[in-house]
Amino acid sequence: MPDASAPNGAAPLPLALRRLHWASAALLVAMFALAWTFEALGPSDLGAALVDWHRSFGLLLLAVVIARLVWRLTHKVEPIPPGIPAWERWLAAAVQGALYLLLVAMPLLGWAASAATGDVVRAFGLPLPEILPMDEDLGDRLFQIHGTLAWVLLALVALHVAGAVRHHFVHRDGLLARMRIG
Ligand code: HEM
Repeated sequence: MPDASAPNGAAPLPLALRRLHWASAALLVAMFALAWTFEALGPSDLGAALVDWHRSFGLLLLAVVIARLVWRLTHKVEPIPPGIPAWERWLAAAVQGALYLLLVAMPLLGWAASAATGDVVRAFGLPLPEILPMDEDLGDRLFQIHGTLAWVLLALVALHVAGAVRHHFVHRDGLLARMRIG
């Protein structure tokens, strides 16, 4: 049933999916804010506490993204309205697929790198299994990949947001209403 606030009939996606989407977006903002702050602080008590929060929120983000993927794979969602060119549909799908992939890979890499450097990874105080044996060199390499992929993730998020903003302000096709918060 088309929504009145969406001029071209872009009805909102189901509420559960929208909530999971905005929860992952908020957690992602927190991840970068925490990471850039503890990197800027360097070794310190506050820095170590922020690394702990970064790990906890990153693992929560992993749980949210897995819930999103399970939801997507078990439910049918309304296709985007017709009239959007094939190249744009393809690009949007490719960016969304890559975002899902990185949102799963980044937390696993952070967890594996932390374990390899000998740290006990805790999620909100709860110790988690060591998913790799201690190996400092491997840990350093995994952290390098974690840091590089963070920039790739940021670039993909920028493309994703640019696409949404373009539809909202240039095409004015109400597509953004599919993901509205309330
Ligand atoms: C999508 C989720 C995540 C994002 C976007 C993310 C992002 C980042 C970024 C941007 C940095 C700074 C990299 C640099 O400047 O070199 C960083 C560092 C770090 N991340 Fe994550 N991270 C995520 C998940 C995790 C998880 C789940 C863990 C651990 C369980 C983790 C552990 C760490 C640690 C320990 C560092 C510091 C590495 C160092 O010593 O240089 N991250 N992360």
